[in-house]
Amino acid sequence: MSKLADLFKKGTDFLGTKYAVLGGAMTWISDSDLVSAISNSGCFGVLACGAMLPKSLENEIRLTKEKTNKPFGVNLMTMHPQLQDLINIVAGCNVKHLVLAGGLPNKEIIEKVKLLGLKLVCFTPAVSIGQKLLKMGADALIIEGHEAGGHVGPTALTVLAQEVLPAFKEDIVFVAGGIATGSMMANFLKMGASGCQIGTLFACVKESNAHLNFKRTFFRANSRDAVLSVQLDKRFPAIPVRAIKNKASQDFMALQKQVLTEFETGSLDLKAGQLKIERFWAGALKQAVIYGDVERGSVMAGQSVGLVKEELSVNEVVNNIITEAEQYLSL
Ligand SMILES: Cc1cc2nc3c(=O)[nH]c(=O)nc-3n(C[C@H](O)[C@H](O)[C@H](O)COP(=O)(O)O)c2cc1C
Repeated sequence: MSKLADLFKKGTDFLGTKYAVLGGAMTWISDSDLVSAISNSGCFGVLACGAMLPKSLENEIRLTKEKTNKPFGVNLMTMHPQLQDLINIVAGCNVKHLVLAGGLPNKEIIEKVKLLGLKLVCFTPAVSIGQKLLKMGADALIIEGHEAGGHVGPTALTVLAQEVLPAFKEDIVFVAGGIATGSMMANFLKMGASGCQIGTLFACVKESNAHLNFKRTFFRANSRDAVLSVQLDKRFPAIPVRAIKNKASQDFMALQKQVLTEFETGSLDLKAGQLKIERFWAGALKQAVIYGDVERGSVMAGQSVGLVKEELSVNEVVNNIITEAEQYLSL
């Protein structure tokens, strides 16, 4: 067995794949085309449910199964109002792995997932929460660093990995955030990670149905262009999201300033102000990914976007990472 296969072993046994690399679910991007291509490459594709309704999810799973006979998973958001129904669909379609994102799942949900026989993957931002999730029934964890695209936590993967990996030597932990090369992945594997999850690198591959404008924005961007949405005042919380800076990021700052002024002069109450801020980004990812409005939409991307320069196929991306990791480990 090669060094890489050996380091991947815990992850590949769990996922049922050749490589312990998950294609991180990306709402509006991770559809049946991209997910099946990732799974066919030997990695593990993950369908993004996002705000999809149960019938649409069922259809997307069916389409994915038509395009691959390899394992893939489904990513559900814990705050989805029909979470229970969606879980039933995943199990009913005989998908084996479920990733729960967007907040910590409660005990009742975890129990349901386990009762249905699904393998459960959860995100953890810290050792204590990871321990709790495993105790409650999660089968594997993902730690995702601040470098990642989309909704992010406050800590960089370099720090999270040092903090979290040593505490879970016997468990399955995948690392995510900023991984774009085989050498970087290999280092995390050597530190004890069971595999990695990659989003940004897969977002604009040939098999991705993202709009051409979205892809061009990716190829032109530098790592420093993938910035966080900034919260101006803690009374008006804004969830940190990493995306390529554009007109929408500037407008968001202006809106927050306006809300703050109106609140302080008494013409807007707290709730109405919070609602205005919350609503600003509604539908913004779809606007960019599907309609190609890369100025007013949200072009979510991780800092590794600076390393995405051209439209490669999934197989090319995967071959690059795997070949480089093998070479790096043989040094
Ligand atoms: C455009 C985009 C959309 C994303 N949507 C989701 C999502 O719906 N659910 C989720 O759990 N993570 C989502 N993520 C995070 C990815 O699944 C993955 O964890 C992350 O991209 C890994 O970091 P990287 O971008 O540095 O590779 C998204 C990321 C991007 C770039």
